[in-house]
Amino acid sequence: MASWWRVFPRAARRYPWPTNLLLYAGLFSAGDALQQQLRGGPADWRRAPRTVLVKVLCDQTVGGPIALSAFYVGMDILQGKDDIFLDLKQKFWNTYKTGLMYWPFVQLTNFSLVPVHWRTAYTGLCGFLWATFLCFSQQSGDGTVKSVFIFFHRKEVGDRPPEK
Ligand SMILES: *[C@@H]1O[C@H](CO)[C@@H](O)[C@H](O)[C@H]1NC(C)=O
Repeated sequence: MASWWRVFPRAARRYPWPTNLLLYAGLFSAGDALQQQLRGGPADWRRAPRTVLVKVLCDQTVGGPIALSAFYVGMDILQGKDDIFLDLKQKFWNTYKTGLMYWPFVQLTNFSLVPVHWRTAYTGLCGFLWATFLCFSQQSGDGTVKSVFIFFHRKEVGDRPPEK
């Protein structure tokens, strides 16, 4: 019987996008659940603006870089790349900067505009979008939003190299 650690790398090579998304979504939810567990249940963020700012800051300076590095190196390992640090080296800063524009926005809107009972769904959706972007960056992009537009533009004009 095939074990998951044999099946997974094979699936990751054959279906990189869905597998990556699944993995990331799992890690993302696990992280959020763990955080709530450690805090002893969902906190009332509305009454603690300082705590929110600290959380945003911590996520961007500690959590974000760790998660990004784990993602790029982990994916390279699963896909059996020769240099498992290559994607990390080439794309980390771009991706980090994109995340820096995205996540604080998501978190602050989460805490200030989104009603409590919608927050899980809202951050889940934002996490899903981010996961899609990460997987794209690992496969075909370079961590910038611009690379997404270039990619789809090329598709539209029929994969011709950009003319200058
Ligand atoms: C959104 O808010 C909920 C609780 O109000 C919190 O548990 C969750 O961590 C927040 N999500 C993000 C990404 O900050």
